[in-house]
Formats: sequence, structure tokens, C-alpha cells
Amino acid sequence: MAVVAPGLLEKTWYDTFFEGWFRMKQFEAFALDTANECLWREGVQLSLRPKPFAVLRYLVEHAGRLITHDELLEVLWPETYVQPQVLRTYMLELRKALGDEAGQPRFIQTLPKRGYCFVAPVTECADGRRSASANSMQKEEARAIAIVGREEELTLLETRMQQSATGQRRTVFITGEAGIGKTALVDAFSQHSAFAPQACIARGQCVEGVGRTEEYYPVVEALGQLCSGPEGDRVCRILTRMAPAWLTGAACDQEAKRTTVDRTLGDLCAALEELAADKPLIFVFEDLHWADESTLHLISALARRRAPARLMLLGTFRAHEASEAVAEKKALLGLKQDLLMRRLGEEIALAPLGKSAVKELLRRELHQEELPTGLATFVHQHSEGNPLFVIAIVEHLIAQCFLMRETSDELTAWQQRAPFAEIEASVPDGLAQMIEREVERLSPMDQRLLEAASLTDVASPAWAIAAALEMDQAEAEEACDNLARRLYFVQRVGQDELPDGSRSAFYVFAHGLYREVLYQRQAVARRARRHVRVAERLGQLFTGREADVAREIAQHLEAACQWSRAADALRTAARQALQRQAYAEAAHLLEHAYALTENMGRVEGPSAQAEIQAELDAARQAASSIQENVKPLQRKLDDF
Ligand SMILES: Nc1ncnc2c1ncn2[C@@H]1O[C@H](COP(=O)(O)OP(=O)(O)OP(=O)(O)O)[C@@H](O)[C@H]1O
Ligand SMILES: [Mg+2]
Repeated sequence: MAVVAPGLLEKTWYDTFFEGWFRMKQFEAFALDTANECLWREGVQLSLRPKPFAVLRYLVEHAGRLITHDELLEVLWPETYVQPQVLRTYMLELRKALGDEAGQPRFIQTLPKRGYCFVAPVTECADGRRSASANSMQKEEARAIAIVGREEELTLLETRMQQSATGQRRTVFITGEAGIGKTALVDAFSQHSAFAPQACIARGQCVEGVGRTEEYYPVVEALGQLCSGPEGDRVCRILTRMAPAWLTGAACDQEAKRTTVDRTLGDLCAALEELAADKPLIFVFEDLHWADESTLHLISALARRRAPARLMLLGTFRAHEASEAVAEKKALLGLKQDLLMRRLGEEIALAPLGKSAVKELLRRELHQEELPTGLATFVHQHSEGNPLFVIAIVEHLIAQCFLMRETSDELTAWQQRAPFAEIEASVPDGLAQMIEREVERLSPMDQRLLEAASLTDVASPAWAIAAALEMDQAEAEEACDNLARRLYFVQRVGQDELPDGSRSAFYVFAHGLYREVLYQRQAVARRARRHVRVAERLGQLFTGREADVAREIAQHLEAACQWSRAADALRTAARQALQRQAYAEAAHLLEHAYALTENMGRVEGPSAQAEIQAELDAARQAASSIQENVKPLQRKLDDF
């Protein structure tokens, strides 16, 4: 993006800016700004990523018509084959930005298995930024989009803002996993903060893949915003005087190119400080995990300069982004570490939302104070407090008609249509797509390690991962440690001692949803082979004590559809339970084994059934006689 100064080019920045107004399409409170590729709501600019923006633009420009999945994919990726599911992720983002509901669409209607239709009336908007000055309206909006459960973080940001307003420059990194609410926190702070109206806010977005080809991408974007914002004239004057090279971008015209002035960081730092002299400046860098090195140098320089400046730098990033741009990532983590150590910066590491915050978020999403019983617990458990997951799960429940709007006594409210036990805890499609994309960025080896880790419930030991992939155990452990250091969704949580005295680390996924996606993405036959290898390794490790791990062995064999071997393992476990006089437990294991015989062949099945039935009868009999023996004792206890 080029930042263009008045006087340098024939067409001034405000010409370009206002040209855009006349190209806007308006629907309800929104205006689609095709010139600046953003969306406006009552004068507030909402940023959308380029692809979702392109989807929205196409839908709005063809409002009232069914746009098929194929048509959209053709428009977005004319040369490439892309899975249609990716569109769902974009719809999720668009609906969020528009405050739209899939179940009751005001803007984007989903026509199952066919495509989408933009259903709201669209008009050409000639007067541009509608009611940009409607301050009270903006305050209302700010309140409406205010986030839940981040009061402490907002207070801390306010304090830092207050300090920076007195000339103490402040640098804050907001970190956490994808969807945890980094952007939402910055939005809430910049729109809600009592100081925000007195400050200039510049925001630059780092874009995946662009960092390696375009230097200073987010910086140029943020400067562009400053130049076209309410303080545009002043910003351009200062930049022209102090850092003219920063006013020209790659796309500037010949005249500007002739004005060859070296871009130096010092010039820009000085210009930004000058800018902040009149009005505090908040410079936001979004998604620094995709930043180029030059941008990081600018942050480093601004944070370290000693002169007082009313400057606040806010950077968001995913602390363990699954990026392959190792050099940039090291540079970013190094910068953060160094600034933290020198007390020139600090980190707000966002934790998952607690249950009460999830409840509040659900109330807002469903626009309903009284929630169906158990909904908050269910969603909290499945989302593990990640707000993006909360929202996706709610949309999923609505799309699957587990939650429906029902009217009784003239009151319409969301009601639950099935007990939670019946609601399949499947991964909502949009989320699965997002997780899948994160996984695809990893090397094939890393992907295999994660898939192998997903074979085991709860915690995955390194020995099992090694067995599944036929690797050396020490090598697998080293590779998993390496992975856990890089990825936020895998953690090393401890070490187990094995029967031979050796030790093996074990790992967990931060979200069950990750495990589910990684499990499901494996081809069935490959996954089955891996399960069998884990079962066999378990047997070897516990030679002579197989009964201790027979249940686990059975689980892996059952998952691999090895019915007969799984039933045998369950019978071994049942025999051990009988020895402990745990008759009910033994009966339960044998019932399970009996159920597996249904899948066996016509010869094998009936003979296994007969044997298991005999064992089952014995276990049940033992269980009931124990109960009979216990009854008098129980009565005595009751009398007592
Ligand atoms: N505390 C919160 N209260 C209400 N909604 C929230 C909160 N945090 C996040 N959200 C919502 O959850 C979704 C994801 O949040 P957000 O985009 O801020 O995540 P992020 O951490 O920036 O993710 P990424 O790393 O992908 O950029 C958004 O729709 C956002 O509005
Ligand atoms: Mg974000």
C-alpha cells in the first residue's frame, strides 16, 4: 500500500480517499468500502481479512442471487483447487463482523449444499462515512462489542496508556493461541478506552507470507491510516518534513520515485515522536508472528529510544505459531524477551476464559439472559475457554438444530432440543478447517507425530508415538519436545516410569478439538496399523503383566477393528477383575467383549460368544451373591 502525501503527487491522498466514498455499497448500518477494502459500521471502520472481504464484496455486488460454492471458489482462486469447506470459515468471520446469525440470517443466507445469498437490500452510498461524528452512537457500539472476562487486561492497558500519555513510552505484547481474543482485546481497548478519543490510533496488520517479500508491510499500512484519518493533514505535514521517504510506497508514481530519499528508521522514529507530541499515539501491530524483520527493527528502535514520547506500542502474536519462518520467529521471541528483561516492554499472555466468562459470552451470542441448563458447562468443556471455539460451537449447535428458537407465552427464546449426552461432540466444520490449516503448515514429520499422539486418549506417551510410527523412542521424544516448544496446542506434561525402569515423557493437546481433527484426518487403514503397533508395544513393555494394561490394549485393538484380539484383551482384563473380586466390573468388561463378537465372522463369532457368555454368567452370579451377602451387613449399618 502506498502512503501518498499531498503535493508529492498530482492526486492527493484525500482525493483518493473521498473517491472511495462514492463507491460504497450500503446495507442496514454497514457500508462496504471497495476502495479501501474495509467495512464501515456507523462510521467505525471494521477490518476484514482480504479473502473474507472479497467474499463479502462478491455477495453484496450480486445481492439477491444464489452464489454457488463453485462460483465463489472460481472468483477467489481462479487458478487453484481449494476445498469448498474453506468458505465456511470465511462465513463465520463475516457473520461475526456483521453480527449476523446463520439460523436467522439478516445478511448472508446459507442455502445448504448449494451456496449463499446476500438477502439484505443494498443501496449505493453517495455520502460516504455515515454519521462518523455520531459520538454517542459510537459509545453505544463500543459497549455492545465490549468483551467478556478481560477486565484485568483492559485495566492494565488503560494504566499503560495513562503512563504513555505522560511521556513514558510503553510497549505491550498481547500473546496467546489462535482465537483466544488478542484482536478483540485490542479492539475493546482502542474503542472503549477512556483515553482512546484523545489518542491517535494507527494499526498495521502483518499478513502471512507477505513478511518475506514486503518490508514494513504493517508499518506502511498504519501510516496510510494515519494519513487518511482525522489527523491526516498534520501527519502528512510531519512526515513530509521529517521522514519524506516514508510517504512513498512501492506503487507511487515516477515523480515520487525521483525523490529518492533513503528510508531510515531514525527518521520515522523521530517523526512518530513528533506526531505524539500533540496527541498520544497508539501504534498497533497485529499478528507479529508474520512480521518481517524490518518491522521488528522499528518496534525495537521505538521501544528502546530514551527520549520521552507519548507513544504506546501494542503488538499481538500467537506465541507458538506453527510457522516455518523460523528466523523471523526467533527474532520476534528474542525481541520480546530482551525488551521484557530490560523492563522496556511487558507481555499480557491471554489465558482461556473461565466458566462464568463463557456463560456471559453465550448470553451475548444468543441475546438471552437465561441460558438452557447445562449449556455453559457443555460449551466451556468443549471450547476449553477459547472464545473463537465458543462461538463456533454455538453456531454448530444452531446449525445442527440442537439449539432452536421457540416461542412460549409470547416469549421467544433459545431452547435445547436434545440432551447433551446425545449431542455429538463433533468438531464444527469451520473450526476443523482452521485447525487443519494450522496442521498443514507443519512439516510432514511434525504432522505424523501429532497424528500418532492423537491415537491415545488424554495423554500421549513418547513410547506410544514411537511405536505408532516405528521410530526410535529417544528420537520420537526429542522430536515431540521440539514440537511442544514450537506449538501452543501441544504441551509436555510429565514423565512416566516404564516397567523396564526407563522413562518416557508424555504430552497433551491443549484442546480436545485438536486431537479430534488430527485423529480424523488419518486414513482409516493407516490409523488402524498405528493403533495395532501401540497395542503390541504395550504388550511388550508389560510382558508378564499384560493384564495390567489389557484394557488399554483392547481400546487400541478395537479402534483398529481387530475384534477378536480386542475381545481377548477384555477377557484378560475381566479375569484380573475377578481375581480382585470386582465382579461387577468383570461383568461390564465381558459385556463389552460380547458386544464385539457381533462384528466377528460367522464361525469365529458364535464360538467366542459361547465362551464369553459362560464367563459372563459366572461373573454376574458372583456379583449377585456378593450383593446378597452384603445386604444383612448394610441393614445392620442402617439400623446402627
Ligand atoms: N473476551 C472476549 N469476549 C467476547 N468475545 C471474544 C473475546 N475474545 C475473543 N472474542 C471473539 O472470539 C473471536 C476470536 O477472537 P480474536 O480474533 O480476537 O482472536 P485472536 O487471538 O486475535 O486470534 P488470531 O490469533 O487468529 O488472530 C472473535 O470473534 C472475537 O470477537
Ligand atoms: Mg487476531
